[in-house]
Amino acid sequence: MIDKKHDLESYWNNTAEHIKRYRIKELLTKGIVGTLNPWFTYKKSRILKVLDRIEVKDKRVLEVGCGTGFNCRYLMKKGAKIIGVDISSKMIELAREAATYEGLNIPFYKIDGSHLSFQDGSFDLVFTVTVLQHILDEKMLDELLKSISRVTKKEGEAIIFEDVSVRAQKNSTYISRTRDDYITLFKSNDFKLASYYCISSPFYRLCVLPSRLANRIFRNEIKDEIREETFFTSLYLRLVVFACKRIDKMWQDEVGIGYFRFIRI
Ligand SMILES: C[S@@+](CC[C@H](N)C(=O)[O-])C[C@H]1O[C@@H](n2cnc3c(N)ncnc32)[C@H](O)[C@@H]1O
Repeated sequence: MIDKKHDLESYWNNTAEHIKRYRIKELLTKGIVGTLNPWFTYKKSRILKVLDRIEVKDKRVLEVGCGTGFNCRYLMKKGAKIIGVDISSKMIELAREAATYEGLNIPFYKIDGSHLSFQDGSFDLVFTVTVLQHILDEKMLDELLKSISRVTKKEGEAIIFEDVSVRAQKNSTYISRTRDDYITLFKSNDFKLASYYCISSPFYRLCVLPSRLANRIFRNEIKDEIREETFFTSLYLRLVVFACKRIDKMWQDEVGIGYFRFIRI
C-alpha cells in the first residue's frame, strides 16, 4: 500500500518515466497521465468543460498535484496567475518541458501538498484533479487539507475533482471515498460546500474491466508494459465511451467523478 511520502513520490516518478518513454508529445499535449485509454481522454474533456466555466482571469490559482501541468497550461491561457506543485520531481520536469513547448512561463515546483510553502491566504483558488483519491494515508490527507485551507484566502475557493463511488473501492494506489467523506473533510478544515455534482455516470467502469480482460485474451498484442490498447480493446473502449457519453447526458448520480466547489470561511 502506498501510504508513505517516499513511496508516493516514487510511484508518481515511475509514472512520469513511463510518460516520458511513451508518446511523450501526445501525452503532454493531451494532458493524460500514463495512458491513452479513451476513457481517460473522455474524463479529461469532462473536467475541462467544468474548468472552462470557472472565472479565473487575474486570479491567483494553485494546482496541487499538477502532474504534467495540462490543467495549469489550460488555465493560464484563460488568464489565471497560476502555480503548479507536485510531489514528483519527474512530473515537474515534464510539466516544465510541456510549458516550454507551448511557450508558457508557469512556475512549477516540487512540493508535497501536505507542506505547502506559501504564505497564509496566498491564493484565490486552490484545486486538485484526481489527486486525493490516490492518497491512502489519512494523516497525509489531513495535513494536505490543512495546508490547502491555510493558503486559501478567506472567501477564496477550493475545487476538487475526485472519484466518489458509493461503494468505496480501494487498491494499493487508489481509494474512492464517498461524497460525504470529502464534504466532512473540507468542513473540518474551514470550508463550506458551495456546489457539488457528479460529472460522469458509473458506466465508465465498463471501460476498465473489459479492457483488462481483453488485454489478457489478446496478450500477445500488447506492445508496451504501460498497457497500450490493442486494436480490439481500442475498438471496444471507443464503443463504451460512445455509450458513456450518451448515458452521461441523461444520468445524474452520486458515483463516478465528483466536482466539489468549497468556499473558505
Ligand atoms: C492522477 S495524477 C493527476 C495529475 C493532474 N492533476 C491532472 O489532472 O492531469 C495525480 C498527481 O498528484 C500528484 N500528487 C500525489 N500526492 C501528492 C501530494 N501529496 N502533493 C503533491 N502532489 C501529489 C502525483 O505526483 C501526480 O502527479
